[in-house]
Amino acid sequence: MAVPRILVFAGSAREASFNKRLARLAAARIEALGGHPTFIDLRDYPMPLYDGDLEDAQGLPDNALALRKLLAEHQGLLIASPEYNGFVTPLLTNTIDWLTRPHQGESGLALFKERHAGLISASPGGLGGLRALNHLRQLLTNIGVTVLPDQLAVAKAGDAFDAEGNLVDTAQSDMLDAVCQRLVTTLDRQHAD
Ligand SMILES: Cc1cc2nc3c(=O)[nH]c(=O)nc-3n(C[C@H](O)[C@H](O)[C@H](O)COP(=O)(O)O)c2cc1C
Repeated sequence: MAVPRILVFAGSAREASFNKRLARLAAARIEALGGHPTFIDLRDYPMPLYDGDLEDAQGLPDNALALRKLLAEHQGLLIASPEYNGFVTPLLTNTIDWLTRPHQGESGLALFKERHAGLISASPGGLGGLRALNHLRQLLTNIGVTVLPDQLAVAKAGDAFDAEGNLVDTAQSDMLDAVCQRLVTTLDRQHAD
């Protein structure tokens, strides 16, 4: 049986992003739990703010096409989402918006339809970005992604990681493993069918 491939990224471009740190850790845990993760940094895939006139004139940005290709090569998504004003970041929604557009007769939505996703977040605040996860869950469901019920929101993110980038709190570390394990197991089962 092929090892499930999982695309891992954060909704932040910031160099010192807590969510990138959490996403990198999740990628390592997916690998340890039997999946095949690909970590990408959305800073490497800059795109203009979605504009229908721009799309009409120039089509999809090259980086949207590159991400579509990556998405097609992976069965799962693991997204670490920062929270801005209780919501998903513009970087994340803009990336998803471009990816859902059709291209040369190929539906963008079809790329998401068969995918499963696990959600995690980190924030210096007390709720750990939990409110944004609810919106991200809704957004991904709207475009046909099956979002797994397990999720992790890491509060007080400035104190949550040790020098090696691991989570200090064992319960949080176990929860991250539970999210990653469920994603790997679900994809394994799906491909066994
Ligand atoms: C515009 C803006 C709005 C924010 N709103 C929230 C919020 O609603 N809840 C929260 O926990 N943190 C909020 N923050 C703080 C972010 O959680 C913090 O900047 C975090 O480090 C961003 O994630 P990152 O470290 O992955 O870049 C906000 C930050 C910005 C820039």
